[in-house]
Amino acid sequence: MTSVLLVCLGNICRSPMAEGILRARLRARGLTEAYTVDSAGTAGWHVGRPADPRTLEVLARHDALCPLTARQVAAEDFERFRWILAMDQSNLTDLQLRCPPALRDRLHLALAPTGGGDVPDPYYGGADGFEHVYRLLDTALDAWLARWEGQPSGV
Ligand code: 4NP
Repeated sequence: MTSVLLVCLGNICRSPMAEGILRARLRARGLTEAYTVDSAGTAGWHVGRPADPRTLEVLARHDALCPLTARQVAAEDFERFRWILAMDQSNLTDLQLRCPPALRDRLHLALAPTGGGDVPDPYYGGADGFEHVYRLLDTALDAWLARWEGQPSGV
């Protein structure tokens, strides 16, 4: 079983987008049972709420919609998930501060396989920002999948 946690600030825009994309990719490849996938936010402002309607609209348009309820990163996530992908450097720094030192090699930038950098926060922008986030994550998650499929599973 390969376990993947997608993390952003609020868990309503970028990380649920990544979760929907990854679940759709796994479904298309018949790999759903081989992975545990979830998303969470470093902040707790939106806990219990559905993803932003603009994220849901983009996921629906790409046939990648799934149930998405915001939650905050919890201490046990660092043990539970072998791959913890942060949407930007600020999220990564927050995770590094909370993560037990022995588990810090589980933390990565989501865009690392496609050159690194941040997934821009689309929350205060327009709908085109959400489509841009979709494209960035779609390419990067394909690259992550190629990496995971080429090596023994994590926890
Ligand atoms: P996310 O975007 O981290 O991609 O979910 C944000 C969502 C909410 C806020 C900021 C960013 N906010 O300030 O409430």
